[in-house]
Order: sequence, then structure tokens, then C-alpha cells
Amino acid sequence: MICLDYAATTPVDERVLAKMMPYFREAFGNPSSIHRFGQKAEAAVDEAREKTASVLGCQPDEIIFTSGGSEADNLALRGAMMAHKDASKWILTAKTEHPAVSKTAIQLEQEYGFLLEWLDVNEHGAVTVESLAKAVCNNTTMASVMYANNEIGTINPIADLAEVAKANNILFHTDAVQAAAYLDVNVNKLGIDLMSLGGHKFYGPKGVGALYVRKGTNLVPHLTGGSQESSLRAGTHNVPYIVGFAEALHLAAEEREARIAHVKPMRDHIIGAILETISDSRLTGHPEQRLPNHASFVFKDVDGNLLLQLLDAAGFACSSGSACKTGNPEPSEVVTALGYSRDWALGSLRITLGAGTTPEHVDAFLKTLPDLVTKARSLNQG
Ligand SMILES: Cc1ncc(COP(=O)(O)O)c(C=O)c1O
Repeated sequence: MICLDYAATTPVDERVLAKMMPYFREAFGNPSSIHRFGQKAEAAVDEAREKTASVLGCQPDEIIFTSGGSEADNLALRGAMMAHKDASKWILTAKTEHPAVSKTAIQLEQEYGFLLEWLDVNEHGAVTVESLAKAVCNNTTMASVMYANNEIGTINPIADLAEVAKANNILFHTDAVQAAAYLDVNVNKLGIDLMSLGGHKFYGPKGVGALYVRKGTNLVPHLTGGSQESSLRAGTHNVPYIVGFAEALHLAAEEREARIAHVKPMRDHIIGAILETISDSRLTGHPEQRLPNHASFVFKDVDGNLLLQLLDAAGFACSSGSACKTGNPEPSEVVTALGYSRDWALGSLRITLGAGTTPEHVDAFLKTLPDLVTKARSLNQG
């Protein structure tokens, strides 16, 4: 089985696992305990916070460890909006966001009475400076725009968008869950106030993430209880996972250039070959401003989920954006936002490369895919 789905998740790097292991048994203390077991665990969490802060270029106390990217997004949006309780306040985000952002924004509108406006995206699925500037008003509290899109790989102009937010005195959050594996996540270069990260996208463990919170940004805690994480996120620290998260992020930053050099030529080869050999195929997302390991397409008159099953049977793990709800496939919000009609949008395919990908994997995939697309098309018609 060949994995071409590294945007879904990645295996834990051996070096990361080695750092985590002592904190499961030998150094199993609770960082909140006074005694030496506790002190050792607390030192590990402190060190992880410093390591994370050094990659982000921020202060350690601006890092809030969470259970993952989804929780970081939830804390950012709900935490910031609830800190501005006035229901006449607006939140701005886009339909291309991960559901951890878009569904949280919808909940803020439907359950808490805040006002929600969807930002326009261009044909590549990017939020432009013009679209943000047009939507901002005096009552806007925050804007949330992802750094790089999980489904179509498009990288948003975060530093430029954050400048618009700053000029208009609104908070700016970015979901960098996909971006952190390959892009610079220095918060001062980006100029953002809040940024979400998730460990399992960059060879760290699942179930751990972080939210960067710029000093002075008011958030309402979303898990109340103990005073961990500056009282914004109660609960005994998941010490081994926090240690693993920080080490994985550190390695991703340190090895960024080599990792890009490994995946990008293979990714470019995939894009060129697919567009050339498969009729009625289109690249989705931006042709250049996209994650270096990410290739995504739509194929006309193909059921994307069926294509995934055919690929799986042939030994390839890929992904599609469309969710299959009780046998009635629905095209993804993201591909629909690009303006594709249903006959195109249902046939989405995402191929994402990673550390284990080899040119042989890519060649085998490119040999197999055209026939499977033809097969999926004939089954679609039958
Ligand atoms: C852009 C983006 N945001 C948020 C998430 C959720 O992260 P987690 O799985 O760590 O909760 C994902 C995961 O796929 C993602 O791709």
C-alpha cells in the first residue's frame, strides 16, 4: 500500500518518538505537582513551550497547548468572540476554511447571535486583500483565514491580510495546521494575533496542537477547571505529546528546505503528467502559491469516492473532498466555492506527498490512475 495522503496525517518521526518515550513511564509526573516527579514533567512542558516559541518567534507564554488543530481553532474563534460579548459584532471567514473554523463560526452565529460574513475567494480559492478590505466594518471583531488550504493546497497571503486587519483594528486568526509542515510560521513576519497548529501534520503525534495567542489578546477560556495554560485550557498536561509536538515542529522548521526539495519535484511531475494524460482534468487551487507536497484535481463525470475505492484496491491511499452522506455524494464546499458545477466538483482527488514518498511510488501511481479514471467514468454512466 502506497500512502499519497500525507495531508490527512503523517507517521510519527522516530526522533520525535524517542523524545516522547521517557514521559510515558519513567518521568510520568503531573506537571502541576510540587514534588520532583512533577518538577521533571513541568520542566519538559516548559522546554517544549520554549522550543515551540523559538520556531514561532514569540514568547513562551504566548503558546497554549491544546488537543489538536480543531481545539486550537475552536479556542481562537469562540474564545475571541465570547470575549467581545456584544452580539452586534461580526466575524469574517471563508467557506474554504476547515470545518473546525467554518462550523465554529456558524455556531457563533446560530447559537450565540454573532454576525457572520463569508469572505469571497478567487478562482484559486484564495482570500484576497480586496475581499477582506471590502468586508471589514466598524463592528468587526475578528477575521479568520487559513494559511494553506487542506483540500486544494492554496496558500493565502497571510501577512498582507493581517496588515488589513491591523489597519482596521480587528483580530486576525490563521489556521496554520497544514502550512506548518512546509511554510515559515514566524508570527511576527506574518503579523497575526492568533495561529492554530496541529502536531500530526508534521510527523508529530495526533491529539496535540497549539494556539499562539499574541500578548494582550483577550480570550474566554473554553475548558474551565485548573489553571493550566494560563487558565485558558484546563486539564492535566499531556506531557509526552506536548514534548513530541515541540520536537516535531522544531524538526520541521530545521529541515524545511530539504523536505520541500524532496517532495516538490515529484509533486510537479504529478501535476504535469495528470493534466497531460487524463482528459477533462483540472488542477484545483493555485498553480504556484500552493503547498509544495500538494496536488489536487477535479475530473469531470467521476465519482470521487468511487475513484478512491478503486485506488485503494489498487494499493494507493489518496483523498477526495466530497463527503458521502448516505449514498448521496455531496461535492465539497471548498471545490464548490471555486465555482465548479456538480459534474466536476464530485470528481475531486487530492494527492499529498511526504517523507516516505519515492519517485517509484509516483511512477506506479501515474501508471495506474488514467485507467482507473476511465473505469470510474464508465461506472458513473452505467
Ligand atoms: C486546515 C486544517 N485545520 C484544522 C484541522 C484539524 O486538526 P486536528 O486534526 O489536529 O484537530 C485540519 C486537519 O485535517 C486541517 O487540515
